[in-house]
Amino acid sequence: MITRSPNQQGRDTGRQFAVVTGASTGIGYELARCCAAAGYDLVIAADESQIRTAADALEAMGVEVTAVEADLSTIEGVDELYSALEGRRVDALLANAGRGLGKAFLDQNFADIRHVIDTNITGTLYLIHKVGQQMRLDGKGRILITGSIAGFMPGTFQAVYNGTKAFLDNFSYALRAELKDSGVTVTCLMAGATETEFFERADLMDTKIGQQKKMDPAEVAMQGFEAMTNGEGEVVTGWMNKMRAAISSVTPSGILAEAHRSMTEPGSGTKQ
Ligand SMILES: NC(=O)c1ccc[n+]([C@@H]2O[C@H](COP(=O)([O-])OP(=O)(O)OC[C@H]3O[C@@H](n4cnc5c(N)ncnc54)[C@H](OP(=O)(O)O)[C@@H]3O)[C@@H](O)[C@H]2O)c1
Repeated sequence: MITRSPNQQGRDTGRQFAVVTGASTGIGYELARCCAAAGYDLVIAADESQIRTAADALEAMGVEVTAVEADLSTIEGVDELYSALEGRRVDALLANAGRGLGKAFLDQNFADIRHVIDTNITGTLYLIHKVGQQMRLDGKGRILITGSIAGFMPGTFQAVYNGTKAFLDNFSYALRAELKDSGVTVTCLMAGATETEFFERADLMDTKIGQQKKMDPAEVAMQGFEAMTNGEGEVVTGWMNKMRAAISSVTPSGILAEAHRSMTEPGSGTKQ
């Protein structure tokens, strides 16, 4: 379902134009706020009707906002989002929609596993493929992909999620290299644990990581937005996460997998 600003006059307002996925809550909503504050008109998308509430708040910042309620794990959902752009040139694509999934792999429902893979990887890549081709033709554009430091370590009790983020972190660098000298930049936002609805949605609230203090999503988004605007290749948010990323790069995978267990094993949180 596509909902446009009531005051939309026409397609081209002369302002820059950004697309933000997963913008109903959390990091994506804050990324959309960064875009609105910088004067971008927006198309924002998420799977549930809360995206329209987010659109109302963003419109109040003085830009035009179109809200798309679509399941971005599907080709049809991404096509619906793409059709809402109405051919307008995209200056910035912030591919942020994603979801996690806690518990042991063999105890997870396979439909949920597939939904994580299709949201985090298939839908993200399909959207980037469509919008990226136009950006390359135009010779300019900014792409931000929300990866994660989770991509640096085997995710015991979040195995599929960490695998999808390893894919995105890796993919982001390859695409950036392919687009070198094209005028299009690709930035990977590698956040660590951030205070959003992610952990509740992923059924991780009985775990240490679900219960620990986390980074502010507004701060995480600001760092990602600035890195994207500057055309940087990556940003790891916060000094603790920078340290974790550095340690991960020199630690054997088996040790990382055991360390991950202590954060995400069901029941590892102190509050039950
Ligand atoms: N929170 C963290 O600690 C953390 C750390 C590193 C990276 N990240 C990444 O940051 C991104 C944003 O997550 P968040 O922490 O801000 O969590 P969040 O508050 O749960 O936000 C996730 C957003 O993605 C949307 N979404 C999920 N599946 C979708 C689908 N199939 N189709 C359309 N929209 C979908 C959600 O909308 P609906 O509710 O409508 O589905 C929501 O807007 C994700 O890619 C996540 O992997 C998070």
